[in-house]
Amino acid sequence: MTTTTPTSTSTSTSTNGALIELSGMSSGYAGVPVVRDLDLHVDPGEVVALLGPNGAGKTTTLLTVSGLLKVLDGSATVLGEPVIFGSPHKMAKRGMGHVPEDRSLFFSLTVAENLKLGLRGSRQDQREGYDRALTLLPALRPLMDRRAGLLSGGEQQMLAVARAIVANPKVLMVDEMSLGLAPIIVERLLPIMRNIADETGIGVLLVEQHIHMALTVADRAYVMNHGEIVLEGIGAELAGRRDLLEASYLGDTVLPEEAVTADV
Ligand SMILES: Nc1ncnc2c1ncn2[C@@H]1O[C@H](COP(=O)(O)OP(=O)(O)O)[C@@H](O)[C@H]1O
Ligand SMILES: [Mg+2]
Repeated sequence: MTTTTPTSTSTSTSTNGALIELSGMSSGYAGVPVVRDLDLHVDPGEVVALLGPNGAGKTTTLLTVSGLLKVLDGSATVLGEPVIFGSPHKMAKRGMGHVPEDRSLFFSLTVAENLKLGLRGSRQDQREGYDRALTLLPALRPLMDRRAGLLSGGEQQMLAVARAIVANPKVLMVDEMSLGLAPIIVERLLPIMRNIADETGIGVLLVEQHIHMALTVADRAYVMNHGEIVLEGIGAELAGRRDLLEASYLGDTVLPEEAVTADV
């Protein structure tokens, strides 16, 4: 069964300059909490994995941090200020980048046009954002005139990330980046997220089903189950603790073999 006290492989207390900080946060739908008492933080330059079985509450957590769902209890801050409910636009302006589960691309528009839709700020901000996105995701360069609908799944995901990057976010949340993608593609995409954090100082919160691959790029990870955080720790340490990972997923689903093995 699910434990109520998170197991930890290490102490991971938040620092002062956290980009995202959840403290005892609960949120859900129509006033009914589905995630409860979450303590979580993401610091600059960190890649933090948010893991857990389907229905655990990962998307709900991201939607709350983006201001799309109401904080029902506890607190959620982004860049030191409370999340503004109902105004994802203001949250984006503050520096929140959110790549949603469905990627939200415009399939009939070209790669370049999709990227333009993500631009914000002054002309110089826009130029910097654009250059930065293409430096971090150079595979998009030869695809600029292609319609997004004609890209491969991996290319679409890169475009979705690039469209968030052009806005010069300080923190980036990516929900199920690998949904529908072959493991070999995920293996190429996840190091890009690591590189984004290393090169720019952006803090990345990554929801991922490929547990092992996520833990190879993540500094830290949280596992959610039944709306609660049931395990947290250093990525490299958790990667070697299959026992803890399995226990954290138990009660809901059997951990698929390929999810925790290196060569999937
Ligand atoms: N729009 C919604 N209204 C009511 N309940 C929802 C809604 N979306 C998700 N839920 C419920 O919230 C719980 C967590 O869902 P979700 O955050 O999508 O999980 P995950 O992303 O970890 O798969 C699930 O029990 C799900 O059924
Ligand atoms: Mg989800």
